Amino acid sequence: MNIEDVFTLIKGDMDQVNQLIKTSLHSEVVLINQISQYIINSGGKRLRPILVLLSANAFAQNNLDTAKHKVTLAAVVEFIHTATLLHDDVVDESELRRGKDTANELWGNAASVLVGDFLYSRAFEMMVGVGSMDVMEILSHSTNTIAEGEVLQLLNCNDASTTEARYIEVIHYKTAKLFESASQLGAVVAHQDKATKQAMAKFGMHLGTAFQLIDDVLDYSANSEEMGKNVGDDLAEGKPTLPLIYAMAHGSDTQAHLIKNAIEQGGLDEIEAITQAIETTGALDYTRNIAKQEAQQAITQLAYIPDSEYKEAMITLANFSIERSF
Ligand code: IPE
Ligand code: IPE
Ligand code: MG
Ligand code: MG
Repeated sequence: MNIEDVFTLIKGDMDQVNQLIKTSLHSEVVLINQISQYIINSGGKRLRPILVLLSANAFAQNNLDTAKHKVTLAAVVEFIHTATLLHDDVVDESELRRGKDTANELWGNAASVLVGDFLYSRAFEMMVGVGSMDVMEILSHSTNTIAEGEVLQLLNCNDASTTEARYIEVIHYKTAKLFESASQLGAVVAHQDKATKQAMAKFGMHLGTAFQLIDDVLDYSANSEEMGKNVGDDLAEGKPTLPLIYAMAHGSDTQAHLIKNAIEQGGLDEIEAITQAIETTGALDYTRNIAKQEAQQAITQLAYIPDSEYKEAMITLANFSIERSF
């Protein structure tokens, strides 16, 4: 199975999710419609809603409530994700997202932040409709953790003493947590037992960690057009991601000095020398290897759940998260 097969397998459910996303975006305020439709219609991989659907389908396919709730929650996690992207692009001063100008580039920071808030709160309105205290606990905690992660990252920015452990903490919070919630929610709406819900949560946590590690590799190695985001954004703002942390610790004194400066000052002036330092020290391979271990740990969790094409699709997602170029 490859990633295209996963998209095909889940297409029927995903069409329903996209329909719900469309109707749920509606607001009487024109600017909200404009911006929210702009970013939602720009596409994106929809990985988090796919995780909700695969997880729910791996356990139950016939229960009416499960069928309804999984679609709602898939849309909810995509709204939360999109809200974080609107906010993240303001904070990161990014200009390209999903192959198009960012909302902050077109409408400015204030509008992006406020429409992000609209999407967050719309997600909460929708989630209340599911009527489950467990669901609300998972998603409110998840959203709160993402916010903590983005603030922790802000504190690490321009701080060259950021350790690998502090970096990993940030990516658990800002990215892996929502993957954790997405796969856990599938098991929750399918009324699974505690051990199964925990296994699915762990699957998502490891998958999300692998996903962000590779995102940070791609920020130094991808093709902007294919990725739909600008390469070098992390360096530009002095973000100490693992490729930089590793290259600084393992490079020559000159390279270490260069990277320390780049983290502290930000900017792309030294991008060539830094990319070279990242290459010669093997920092990208080191980061990719950690991502591989995370993906493997994710797959290990699936030993607890019954075999099905949905389980196979989840394994495919774990592998895609490390092999991807977009
Ligand atoms: C981007 O996530 C933000 C990160 C956590 C790295 P995705 O790569 O899933 O973004 P879209 O939704 O496909 O655009
Ligand atoms: C992920 O971090 C952002 C969120 C989880 C909101 P990045 O800043 O690396 O994401 P991109 O690269 O802008 O998508
Ligand atoms: Mg960013
Ligand atoms: Mg990134």
